[in-house]
Amino acid sequence: MGGRVEQIGNATLILGDALEVLPTLDAGSVHMVFTDPPYGHNNNNGDLIHRWEAALGRLPGGEDSPLGRPIANDGAEANDLFRAILPELNRALASKGCCCCCCCCGGGGPDPQFARWSLWLDEVFAFKQMVIWDKGPMGMGWHYRRSYETVLVAEKRGGSRWYDETDRIENIIRPGQYGIRKIIPDAEEHPTPKPPALAAHFMRLHTRQGETVLDPFMGRGSTGEAAMGLGRRFIGIEIDPKWFDASCERIENAQRQLRMFA
Ligand SMILES: C[S@@+](CC[C@H](N)C(=O)[O-])C[C@H]1O[C@@H](n2cnc3c(N)ncnc32)[C@H](O)[C@@H]1O
Repeated sequence: MGGRVEQIGNATLILGDALEVLPTLDAGSVHMVFTDPPYGHNNNNGDLIHRWEAALGRLPGGEDSPLGRPIANDGAEANDLFRAILPELNRALASKGCCCCCCCCGGGGPDPQFARWSLWLDEVFAFKQMVIWDKGPMGMGWHYRRSYETVLVAEKRGGSRWYDETDRIENIIRPGQYGIRKIIPDAEEHPTPKPPALAAHFMRLHTRQGETVLDPFMGRGSTGEAAMGLGRRFIGIEIDPKWFDASCERIENAQRQLRMFA
């Protein structure tokens, strides 16, 4: 199964390339995908965030350091990677399984990514909804600074897994709603962490206890932490050994805390 595999309680964490690891998962073995792929922004690789961190002396090598925290496959290849994994995600999903993909913040160039990714999702799945996460305080950028992110929701063709009984779930998440709060990472942290509460919100809607959630771009393990907290099983794939090791530690800690308060 791809590279190194760590079994930590209910979580299976795999160090490797999602393109190689996904075909090794059993068909229909996953009930939901929640993921945050590289957007292709070349974040922390000589961009505005990199220069800002350098100016504040927050890079490991000091102000003139060439070191940023580039994310793997975060250049022009990100779009091809996203499109390439979709058939494998569909194969891994059980009937009516849901695929939730974070997709940044609305802007264009060379064309609007949320539109392109939505259409690609709809080629493989049935596209369901674009949910806006209003992050509250003003974000990076200029000319319409980035203050929200999107989560694209698609389903395996043939039906829905939907476990909300309130009938009050909107296609917008307001600042702080469901405990979801924007994270500004420290310089030594993963550059694009998602709050676990974001993944947890979608997991409550689309899965039940004991079901399996997959994140093929695990990063620092926020989806895994959410899955542990909700009693879901978890499969996480990450290509960067640094973030893989950090995720193993985080998920072990999450399980330890659950045992302490059980
Ligand atoms: C946007 S980040 C995910 C951050 C994550 N949501 C979190 O909260 O930490 C995307 C991650 O995908 C990883 N990645 C990039 N290409 C990959 C590939 N082909 N297979 C597996 N992981 C990959 C990157 O190393 C990065 O950590």
